[in-house]
Amino acid sequence: MAGSNGLHSFGRRYAHITGWGKALPDRIVTNQELEQIVDTTDEWIRSRTGIQQRYIAVDPRENAVTLGTRAAMAALDVADFPVSKLDLIICATSSPAHIFPSTGSLIQDALGAARAGAFDLSAACSGFVYAISIANSMIVAGQAESVLIIGTEVLSRLLDWSDRNTCVLFGDGAGAVLMQASPVPGGVLSTVLGSDGSGGDLLAVPAGGSSIPATLETVASGQHFIKMDGKAVFRFATRVMVEATREALDKAGMGIGDVDLMIPHQANERIIRSSMKQLDLPDDKVFINLYNYGNTSTASIPIALCEAIEQGRLHPNDNLVMVGFGAGLTWAATTVKWAVPGAREVPRWRYSQRQATYSLARVRSRLLRYSRQVENSLTSEEGDALGDVLAQRIEGWRKTREE
Ligand code: UT7
Repeated sequence: MAGSNGLHSFGRRYAHITGWGKALPDRIVTNQELEQIVDTTDEWIRSRTGIQQRYIAVDPRENAVTLGTRAAMAALDVADFPVSKLDLIICATSSPAHIFPSTGSLIQDALGAARAGAFDLSAACSGFVYAISIANSMIVAGQAESVLIIGTEVLSRLLDWSDRNTCVLFGDGAGAVLMQASPVPGGVLSTVLGSDGSGGDLLAVPAGGSSIPATLETVASGQHFIKMDGKAVFRFATRVMVEATREALDKAGMGIGDVDLMIPHQANERIIRSSMKQLDLPDDKVFINLYNYGNTSTASIPIALCEAIEQGRLHPNDNLVMVGFGAGLTWAATTVKWAVPGAREVPRWRYSQRQATYSLARVRSRLLRYSRQVENSLTSEEGDALGDVLAQRIEGWRKTREE
């Protein structure tokens, strides 16, 4: 763009969060209910983790795609953003609907985001912050104008409901944010990503991948369920949450006193409180909502972000820190200068218009599937045989005409 002095002024681009949404299954499972299933108590779960209840997808039709799609739709509604303009969908998940196709692609189809690329990001509970980092890089580099980030989990399907060490900790749910390019300074200021694969065995689903494919034996021995060394993960978490937060603040040229709100991964209240103590962060600067959700892995930070906004805990120009840790082992932190005044009033008709677009997306998806089937049948052996018969008939008809 030519400036008034005739020189070209290349404006910087910033990646802002402009929409947010969450989705949860209907069924709440309380600690008291878990007392009926495994050898545990409400008192143990509350005192060791802080968790009081979690949402569980009991309806078999609910999965990472359906929850993620609902959260994504809510985020697009808040931003009042047309799905047809989306450039990219990054879906962070530890419980994808399938190994492939990606849950991101299936959400892209459900939304009818015809122009958008889509993929899954596997960095366990750090995945959402990893996704923010990638989206920010794409936007700042001018490769994308809008990126939809989704954290979606149905971890209950990977839990051994007879293992009290794990089944009381996790919950299902999804959260999403829309990130958009803007010339307004702010948005994502810094990101820190980390990994230490030597700790891969501390939190894992051992079987079902290419290393230990699913067999009758792996299923019988429960190797497709989540296994965790809770104590080791606890020690790792309390260290990296603090280190990653300090590093992200340092990169943004900020100190701990500049933080207005920290949204940590919601795994265990004791981990969060230990980090707060080490960082010297008071209660009013940290958002905790794991009491109601348990650990929803990649969805925990975006669900907490939505609640923090609903409760008026974020204001324009606030410095927000989001920090996560999880299997891999992985960790990630980001600092964000919040620039959105809050959810805008969107006219009702625009909401209805978007709903109509989603209905059209279902029709579009069916039509695409159908046309692919027709195409396949015409190019299959049967199709070839049909083609041969037709060719012979035409040839026969041509010959009789010539005679
Ligand atoms: O997104 C990342 C996901 N993972 C995490 O964030 C996990 C991090 N770790 C933790 O949150 C904690 O280590 C746990 C909550 C998993 C466990 O708390 P802990 O204070 O480290 O307990 P522990 O593992 O040392 O277990 C203490 C006792 C054990 O009994 P013994 O061996 O002392 O007799 C466990 O068998 O508590 C027992 N226990 C339970 N008791 C009642 C373990 N789970 C339960 C349970 N109910 N659900």
